Amino acid sequence: METLSQKLIIQKTEHSRLSSETLDNIPFGRIFSDHIFIATYDNGIWQDLKIMPYGDLSMTPAMAVLHYGQAVFEGMKAYKSAAGDTLIFRPDANFRRINQSADRLCMPPIPEAIFMEGLTELIRLDSAWIPESEGSLYIRPLYFATDEFIGLKPSTHYTFIIMSCPVGAYYSEPVKLIVTDKYIRACEGGTGAAKCAGNYAASLLADKEAKALGYDNVIWLDGIHKKYVEECGTMNLAFVIDNVVVTPQLTGTILAGITRDSVLTLFRDQGVKVEERLISIQEVAEAYDKGILQEAFGMGTAATIAQVSKIGYQGRDLILPPISERKYAQSILEQLEAIKTGKAPDPYNWVWK
Ligand code: COI
Repeated sequence: METLSQKLIIQKTEHSRLSSETLDNIPFGRIFSDHIFIATYDNGIWQDLKIMPYGDLSMTPAMAVLHYGQAVFEGMKAYKSAAGDTLIFRPDANFRRINQSADRLCMPPIPEAIFMEGLTELIRLDSAWIPESEGSLYIRPLYFATDEFIGLKPSTHYTFIIMSCPVGAYYSEPVKLIVTDKYIRACEGGTGAAKCAGNYAASLLADKEAKALGYDNVIWLDGIHKKYVEECGTMNLAFVIDNVVVTPQLTGTILAGITRDSVLTLFRDQGVKVEERLISIQEVAEAYDKGILQEAFGMGTAATIAQVSKIGYQGRDLILPPISERKYAQSILEQLEAIKTGKAPDPYNWVWK
């Protein structure tokens, strides 16, 4: 990792907003910790690295990202161990992925020293915001174009920020998903594998229509055949069919989830058969009809592992077995949480102290 040539200026808040109630029953993504890290990029030079009290950013109405969506982001989580250490889960993987996303959106790479030092100093300063029992501190790096220009071109100015918020569960209940072929999330050659803001904006209408029908989110299918399961938008998906964990392969149209990778690694290392391959929604429905669809679950940083309770497909609901009868995803969730919180050994070096 290169060292930081710029000095990081830290301006601490004089009035912490943290109170003893803040961390109880926290809703996802609405309460933000005291500080924010900010770095700017100006014509090839990273500069002005600072940690400030959390607050509004000023902007011009002509700011490029507002018009053309040149923005990428990440999601990470920090936990407190029983010994009081602050643990961050796989930040190196998030660092690599934000730069892959940035590359796809024609943005310059963020230097590793800026990402890592900004992250560690910010979380060191706001470590009291990490919930100690249930929950975690969700960390949101965000990188966006700031040129004051409304012609279409890659920006020459950017801002990279890291903010954080204490969170509880993203989904409080098992999720109900409905398959859509009315809209598509991504096509080969598009931005499906990038964690860019526009992918999420483009998913909202399908989600809104799903919610109107009583579901939580959609299952996206591939954009060409409208046949193969892709992901759910907030998370990657996997099924347990006849004791085999089957998950869509990374074709370039879905996000290479870090939780997905962690879950598959744990399954494999425990001798569970895992298949990363094309999986048609028809195959899922046939497995259901044969009684061998044992589980369906989502995997994502915010959602961690979210059990799927039903899947709407072609006018009927595939009702999955009760959670109490599922042994795969629930056991991996417990193991993953134990690694993340330092309760279990971490043979993979996923956890950064
Ligand atoms: C995450 O899981 O970290 C995400 O960015 C998904 C978002 C919808 C909360």
